[in-house]
Amino acid sequence: MRIVGGHRFSGEIDVPGDKSESHRVVLISALADGISRISGLSNGDDVARTLASVEDLGVRTTIDVSGVTVAGGLRLPAQEVSVDLGNSGTGLRLMVGAVVGRGPGIVSFRGDESLSARPMDRVTLPLSQMGGGFQGVGDRQGLPLVVTAPSDITGISYDVPVPSAQVKSAILFAGLGANSATTVRESVDTRRATEELMADAGIAIAETRDETGARVVTVEPGIPAARDWQVGRDPSQAAFFLVAAALSPSGRVRIENLVRDPARWGFLDVIERSGARVVRSSNHRIVDVSHGTVLPFTTDGAEIVGLDEVPILTVWAVMASGTSTFTNVGELRHKEVDRLAACADMARKFGAIATIDGDNLQIEGIGGPTNQQPTIKWRHDHRMVMASAIAGALGAGCELEHPEAVNSSFPSFYDVLDSLR
Ligand code: S3P
Repeated sequence: MRIVGGHRFSGEIDVPGDKSESHRVVLISALADGISRISGLSNGDDVARTLASVEDLGVRTTIDVSGVTVAGGLRLPAQEVSVDLGNSGTGLRLMVGAVVGRGPGIVSFRGDESLSARPMDRVTLPLSQMGGGFQGVGDRQGLPLVVTAPSDITGISYDVPVPSAQVKSAILFAGLGANSATTVRESVDTRRATEELMADAGIAIAETRDETGARVVTVEPGIPAARDWQVGRDPSQAAFFLVAAALSPSGRVRIENLVRDPARWGFLDVIERSGARVVRSSNHRIVDVSHGTVLPFTTDGAEIVGLDEVPILTVWAVMASGTSTFTNVGELRHKEVDRLAACADMARKFGAIATIDGDNLQIEGIGGPTNQQPTIKWRHDHRMVMASAIAGALGAGCELEHPEAVNSSFPSFYDVLDSLR
């Protein structure tokens, strides 16, 4: 697909439902004690896989114009079941946690080439301490991964060694089915969607800070209450167009109905202090960004919670005049592709100088739109493809070999792009 350059970014847009909330709401509804109705669910392939997987495990779901209905009560079937999570790391890790506490039973997990190579030992290690059995490929427990859920699992107290909401959440989901409380400690804050949504479903879940400032979350075993859910729009998808608006001469983009979690807005703070004009409602549900200046920035991985916006911030760094730095972003190596290498590669393809030094990434920008017209080959990474498309659209265009990669999270990405002028 050819992305045409010289694009302007002005208008009001809508983006899909938040992917993080969508996976969690589907799983909480599948575990719940009755029928839940969900509106605003992400329409991407990742969340569709989570829905299909709970169906494969015997949970009835229906989709109509008003949303999705999930008839809860998930218990593992007597026979071994195989489920396919496609490209979705979040769906996979959360589901592995959820099924471990719903035994006895055996579930075998599959996925695409990218997902199969992602490390699952970060979740199988704590979940085996709770009593789960795991047989994956290689020493990092790649897919296919066979999970044996016993009839009873035990709550644990676990220090998550890497900043990861997926790992924290996998343990908390397992904790719902344990025979005692489960505590997770994280030294770097990650997104709080699991904690908030479980509390909304009546689960006893509490958060404190220990003496080092680390967040400590404790969940009691329990069955979530069925309810109606409304999922807000996804800030990490909004980011592509909000950043593009700030980079585009006379650009301005407005989005409404975004999720509330303040941890998701680090990228907006970064561009605001680097020259973007940002107006946001106090609860962040409405954001309006317009063009100002484009200065280089320095940010740390802890500010971009989850790191999902690093690819689009890399586009900012490419177009700024001067050196931008991301520190402590080594976790990017474990995303859909090695995104640390991919971001450096993308920056170079669009004409900037990029250097990786340990877990840090430094980009010397070109001070304006790029005149390169690269061919973009990532096949399994929606965010690299969307960031590249924005860089090309702001510059001299680019060629996408796998435009369909956006379907994981944002099937209407090109329509939204076309709608802005
Ligand atoms: C997510 C957590 C993050 C993020 C992903 C969504 C979640 O991954 O990159 O897109 O919903 O829990 P990590 O847990 O690997 O940081």
